[in-house]
Amino acid sequence: VQVSFRLNGSWVSVEVEPGELLLDTLRLKLGIRSVKRGCERGECGACTVLLNGEPVVSCLLLTVQVEGMDVTTVEGLRSDPLFRALAEEFVKSFSIQCGYCTPAMILTIYAYVKKVYEGRKGISTEDIAKAIEGNICRCGTYPRVIKAVASLLNKMPELLPTLKS
Ligand code: FES
Ligand code: FES
Repeated sequence: VQVSFRLNGSWVSVEVEPGELLLDTLRLKLGIRSVKRGCERGECGACTVLLNGEPVVSCLLLTVQVEGMDVTTVEGLRSDPLFRALAEEFVKSFSIQCGYCTPAMILTIYAYVKKVYEGRKGISTEDIAKAIEGNICRCGTYPRVIKAVASLLNKMPELLPTLKS
């Protein structure tokens, strides 16, 4: 089956098996290695991508289901100011240990911060913890990640122009 979708802002067209997982198409056919294979059961969040801006696990999604949709991975956010600010907070707070969960964690937080800006999410420690509850970090960096996100949210006034674009 031929499937076309927007990957990190550019249209791609790829031949897939009807039952092929988006995780496999991204990693094995499209060279997107930031999307990690973990549990393959929708439980660890390592394979998270943004689908039309919403975090979803790509191990539970068939590639044929994303026809015509927008798929974003961290490869597509390299020059995005919000992504860069978030990555900087991760480095400063030592939130990256082995790094296996990091790209997915960052995508989830990226979507969360946009919702905060739109007034659809709160900014308490509990809200941040809830936002990342689907992303398992085997290195146990959760307190550091929460600190990084809280620090980022404190800079919201600086980030607003970024979020508006
Ligand atoms: S590999 Fe997809 S949720 Fe674990
Ligand atoms: S930094 Fe190692 S799994 Fe999260």
